[in-house]
Amino acid sequence: MVRLPNGLCERRSMTNALAAKEISASRSIVPPPLDEGTNMNHRLTIRMASEDDAAELLAIYAPYVTGTAITFEYTMPTVEEFRRRIGSVLTGYPFLVAMTGDGIAGYAYASAFKERAAYNWSAETTVYVRQERRGAGIGKALYLELERILREQRIVNLNACISYPNPGSIGFHERMGYRTVGHFTKCGYKFGRWWDMIWMEKMIGEHHPVPEPVVPVTRLDLHFGGRQ
Ligand SMILES: CC(C)(COP(=O)(O)OP(=O)(O)OC[C@H]1O[C@@H](n2cnc3c(N)ncnc32)[C@H](O)[C@@H]1OP(=O)(O)O)[C@@H](O)C(=O)NCCC(=O)NCCS
Repeated sequence: MVRLPNGLCERRSMTNALAAKEISASRSIVPPPLDEGTNMNHRLTIRMASEDDAAELLAIYAPYVTGTAITFEYTMPTVEEFRRRIGSVLTGYPFLVAMTGDGIAGYAYASAFKERAAYNWSAETTVYVRQERRGAGIGKALYLELERILREQRIVNLNACISYPNPGSIGFHERMGYRTVGHFTKCGYKFGRWWDMIWMEKMIGEHHPVPEPVVPVTRLDLHFGGRQ
């Protein structure tokens, strides 16, 4: 088991002995134009993360660790630990970063929902946007790209683990097509109080009677830019 960047749920990301090809960390995505009226730096690009993004991603994650119960992680991971988390995710799943003119503005990744083989077609999704950049379409752009790749991997169920209450994340996930399927009571303790947690799910494909095996992200020939 490894701890992944959302800190809420520990998962071991898919190990893939077959993965021969390295993910290109610099594949570019044709940037979607940002809505007028945002104060963003004109263009947003999404690419696969690399372990070298660890420090910048940790800077995005840090205020959520130290100032909120959005993540149940108590202690800031080190940059080295964050590097390890990114590398672990990338063995089987996409880890995406959203770039604006002044650097990385957010990230999203998928990880194994559970380790047993029968769960292979389900993935957990996680997203963090730099605090001052929220509400500008970055989370949506990341999730749409994440879903596109997960469909290519033949993943059909997406699950998000969200501390409760967290109306921002719940509202966002509902907008992205997720619905609440589980509510756990007082299962987390942070900042001197107990917190609930919910699971939300979204189906992104058909549940075939005999599903084709899931394809590790390392095996995909990814062409970013095909925003739907
Ligand atoms: C939740 C989060 C990822 C959303 O990303 P974002 O970039 O702020 O959201 P977007 O601007 O892309 O919004 C996408 C859609 O969700 C809706 N949405 C976003 N935040 C919302 C909120 N607080 N309440 C209700 N709806 C919301 C938007 O209205 C938008 O809908 P539209 O497509 O009709 O315009 C971001 O706010 C964040 O990082 N929050 C803190 C970390 C967190 O909670 N992560 C989730 C843990 S799994």
